[in-house]
Amino acid sequence: MKMISLQSIAAILLSALMSAPAIAAPDLANGKVIDQQKCYACHAKKSGFSNGDMIYTRSDGKVKTFADLKKMVALCNTELRLDLFPEDEADVAAFLNQQFYKFKP
Ligand code: HEC
Repeated sequence: MKMISLQSIAAILLSALMSAPAIAAPDLANGKVIDQQKCYACHAKKSGFSNGDMIYTRSDGKVKTFADLKKMVALCNTELRLDLFPEDEADVAAFLNQQFYKFKP
């Protein structure tokens, strides 16, 4: 049986490291939990829709770019004192984008 050399293992590890994104990927599952726990109920009530997801897909929405989305998430977070950490804000923005808005980040 041919042995795999230490050098080739090192090369594989190195290439895996190099291809990993520089910034940690957002945690979409965490974003979903936050939306359900902190955001959904109020959006359902305030929007007049029966469903808290619909504020994200309304045709007259204010969010036109990924930057708008991050701004709006930050606004709801600070205005309403939801006390999300910046990582959580990023997670929920990424989740909403993947689920509803589908902007290119
Ligand atoms: C206490 C009520 C309330 C809570 C809690 C709340 N929001 Fe909002 N949110 C609103 C209202 C009201 C609007 C509509 C604002 C407007 O039309 O100017 C809105 C709008 C938004 C929009 C823009 C929707 C669009 O496309 O037009 C986003 C994105 C958003 N909220 C994200 C969040 C996130 C994320 C959370 C939870 C971390 C959250 N909000 C929690 C009240 C709330």
